[in-house]
Amino acid sequence: MAGWVVLVVGSGAREHALARALAADDAVDAVVAAPGNPGIDTIARCEPLADVTDADAVLAIANRLAVDLVVIGPEAPLVAGVADVLRAAGFLVFGPSAAAAQLEGSKAFAKEVMAAANVPTARAHVCTTPEEVDDALDDLGSPHVVKDDGLAAGKGVVVTNDLDEARTHAAACLAKAGGRVVVEEYLDGPEASVFCVTDGTTVLALPPAQDFKRVGDGDEGPNTGGMGAYSPLDWAPAALADLVVERIAQPTIDEMRRRGTPFVGALYVGLALTSKGPRVVEFNARFGDPDGQVSLAKLRTPLGTLLHAAADGRLEEIDHLRIDPAYAVNVVVASNGYPAAPRTGDTIAGVESAETVDDVYVLHAGTARDADGLLVSAGGRVLDVVATGATLAEARDAAYRAVAEIQLAGGHHRTDIALAAQRGEVTIG
Ligand code: AMP
Ligand code: GLY
Repeated sequence: MAGWVVLVVGSGAREHALARALAADDAVDAVVAAPGNPGIDTIARCEPLADVTDADAVLAIANRLAVDLVVIGPEAPLVAGVADVLRAAGFLVFGPSAAAAQLEGSKAFAKEVMAAANVPTARAHVCTTPEEVDDALDDLGSPHVVKDDGLAAGKGVVVTNDLDEARTHAAACLAKAGGRVVVEEYLDGPEASVFCVTDGTTVLALPPAQDFKRVGDGDEGPNTGGMGAYSPLDWAPAALADLVVERIAQPTIDEMRRRGTPFVGALYVGLALTSKGPRVVEFNARFGDPDGQVSLAKLRTPLGTLLHAAADGRLEEIDHLRIDPAYAVNVVVASNGYPAAPRTGDTIAGVESAETVDDVYVLHAGTARDADGLLVSAGGRVLDVVATGATLAEARDAAYRAVAEIQLAGGHHRTDIALAAQRGEVTIG
C-alpha cells in the first residue's frame, strides 16, 4: 500500500520539526511544506506560498499534489479558517477550525470556555472601558496582568507592579477596533507547556516542556516567542501530563464538542504550577515553538500515524503515546536586535559542524538562501539547536557545544536554558 503525502503549512522551526518527524514515519511517503524553509528543503519538497493565511492558495497546493493529510503549524492560518476551507474540500486536516481556534484567538473566549468546563485558571475580568479596567486592577491587585484579547504575536501581555504601566497597556489594547482587554490574577509558580493531540473527543498528551520567554539570561529583558526549552520536567509532578488531560484538556475538548465546534489538532496548555496546583495561563491552538520541538523530540509514536488518526477522528485507536526517556534541550539562536528590531540578511555558518555533535540536530526557524545560495538569517529567531541525552546535563552540554559551532554576526542566545532544572533549583509554590 502506498503511504501518505503530508502537507505541512508554515515556515519555522516548529514546522521543520514536524516535517522531520513526519518524514521518519514509514507510513508517510512524502512530506511537502508550504512555504517551508531552507532546512525543511533538505528533507521535504517546498512549495512557494506567499501568505499562509491564503486558504485558496493552500487548497490549490493540496489539490495539485493530492495530499492525504494537511498539518497546519502556526496560529494565523488556523484563526483565519484555512482548516475549514480544506475540510470543506474533503481533505483530512490536523488543525482546528476558525471557531475552535478561538481558544487561542480570543483570551476572553478561552476564559469563558474554561469557566464552563470548570478548568482551573486565573480569576479574570474582561473589560471594554478604562473604568472597567480600573475596577479590575483594583479588585485583583498587584502584580497586574493585562492581556490584549486578540492575537498579538507574543506582545499582548504585560505583567507589572506598576499601575500606570498596566493602565497604559490596557488603554492601548482598548484603542484597537473592537478592543477588549483581559485583566487577570497573577499566578505564581514555574511555567510548563503540555501539548495535547486530539481528534475532538480523545486526548493524548505529550511530555511536558518548559519554555524560556525572556530574551536574556536570568529571565531578564523583553518577552520573545521563546528562546529555548527542555523536556521532561523532573521538578514537576510525574503525573502532570495525565493530570492536565483529566482536569484541563479533556473537559475543554468536551466543552468545545458540546458547543458544536469540536477542536481537532494540538491543544497547547500553558500552565503555571502554583502551590495550589496547575492553573491555565493560556491556551494555544497549535504546537509550541520552541517548546513543542522538545516534546516532539521525545515522541516515539510515528507522527504521521498519530496526526492522521487525529485528523480522521480515529485517535482512540492509539492506545497511548510511546515516549523516549531521553532528555531534550533546545537552544534558540536569535538575530541581532531580536526581539525589538531583528536584523536579517546575515550570513549563517557552522550548521553542519553543529550537527556533527552527537545527538544534535539543527532546525531552521528564520533562514533563507541569498542570490548566491548562501544561508542567511531571515527572521528574529534564526536556528533551533536541539540535543538529546541520557541526562539533562548531557543534553544541555551537547546543545551548547553545537551552538558554539554556529556563526551568525550579531547573533545571540541564552546560556541558561535548562540550567536551573539541571541544578535542581526549580521549585513549585
Ligand atoms: P500568554 O500570552 O497568556 O501566554 O502570556 C505571556 C506570558 O505572560 C506567560 O508566559 C507568562 O509568563 C506571563 N503571564 C500570563 N498570564 C499570567 C498570569 N496570570 N500570572 C503570571 N504571569 C502571567
Ligand atoms: N513558545 C511559546 C509559543 O509557542 O507560544
